[in-house]
Amino acid sequence: MPSAQQVPMTTKQQETIAPHGGHLVNRVASPAEKAEFLAQQDTLPRLQLDDRAFSDLVMIAIGGFSPIQGFMEQQDYDRVVDEMRLANGLPWSVPVTLSVDEDVAETLEEGIWVRLDDKTGRFVGILELTQKYRYSKAHEAINVYRTDEDKHPGVAVVYNQGPINLAGPVWLLERDPHPLFPKYQIDPAAARALFVERGWKTVVGFQTRNPIHRAHEYIQKCALETVDGLFLHPLVGATKSDDIPADVRMRCYEIMMEHYFPQDRVILAINPSAMRYAGPREAIFHALIRKNYGCTHFIVGRDHAGVGDYYGTYDAQQIFDEFEPNELGIVPMKFEHAFYCKRTGQMATAKTSPSGPEDRIHLSGTKVRAMLRKGELPPPQFSRSEVAQELARAMQAQAEAQA
Ligand code: ADX
Repeated sequence: MPSAQQVPMTTKQQETIAPHGGHLVNRVASPAEKAEFLAQQDTLPRLQLDDRAFSDLVMIAIGGFSPIQGFMEQQDYDRVVDEMRLANGLPWSVPVTLSVDEDVAETLEEGIWVRLDDKTGRFVGILELTQKYRYSKAHEAINVYRTDEDKHPGVAVVYNQGPINLAGPVWLLERDPHPLFPKYQIDPAAARALFVERGWKTVVGFQTRNPIHRAHEYIQKCALETVDGLFLHPLVGATKSDDIPADVRMRCYEIMMEHYFPQDRVILAINPSAMRYAGPREAIFHALIRKNYGCTHFIVGRDHAGVGDYYGTYDAQQIFDEFEPNELGIVPMKFEHAFYCKRTGQMATAKTSPSGPEDRIHLSGTKVRAMLRKGELPPPQFSRSEVAQELARAMQAQAEAQA
């Protein structure tokens, strides 16, 4: 049986921040492992992964979820859900699990290899099944998402999935170029090498699932004022259906890179993982992922990874205080709710603006989406005009396709 792999840090990589747990995990099958897996592909039991499980497989394989090597066993799962820690005590806030129905679990014995297929039936990975266990959906929902309402999109996923978790180390059969964004597929090891190449000692990571607006740009640039580089890392895995599609969001970022960012200080790359909408817990998760990509700092603004009004505006910032400063190994850069200040004619927060509420134009992805749906172009205080036009074009194309 192939052995677990970890990528030893080269001298160059050591100049960057250590990955979570100390080693960058690599679970992409070697040529010999791949040959062994392919030789057995027709005899192994098969399991089809949904989009989220597939992106989790990819993230594990490329080291984005280091030190996790596979879908979580019960000792990790329980402690993550209850205490935000892996069984070995390392901080970790969100379960990474593969859930199946009982009848499927019954056919699979612990100790076997399971062939993992993507949604199209393509053989994409292997799970070495070390454990099957039952878990409480309500307990996971309450602890991880702080609600058990199935209106919450993350909780809905938990409620809709099977009651048994399959656990064990995984291998990704091969790392394919991303079908839509091959140019921006920069995996953790490559990102780390790029940061070294650019001489960046400090790098701030930015998570987003929305088209870039002026408040995003403001906090990104405020952060960049104090570090060497900005790693723009939009999430392109599964999101809820009313979020703006990833290709549109990426085009907006390309526009921003072309016109409004210094090319030598900013790297745009995709984050292949899926959104959980777990607010505070997900902010920790997002930070640890960016640490694995080599970031030293991570931006946490208002209601990070939130949805609806499930979380307080700054819950996702406060949760960082539940850990000792050095435990996470990445520094959160916390930003207050940013708005356009009419009095000073610039972006600001309550920390930097003397204005009252009447002079503040608050922006959000939700508001931008609502305006676009009504056929309105977001004003320049909301979005750069080129971005607004791109969004309007995309909305128009979508409307025509649906007509
Ligand atoms: S998220 O789900 O990925 O967090 P979004 O793409 O909207 O959603 O946000 C990306 C980052 O920008 C998050 O850290 C979020 O807190 C921050 N952010 C978004 N809008 C604002 C704002 N108006 N003021 C301050 N921070 C913001």
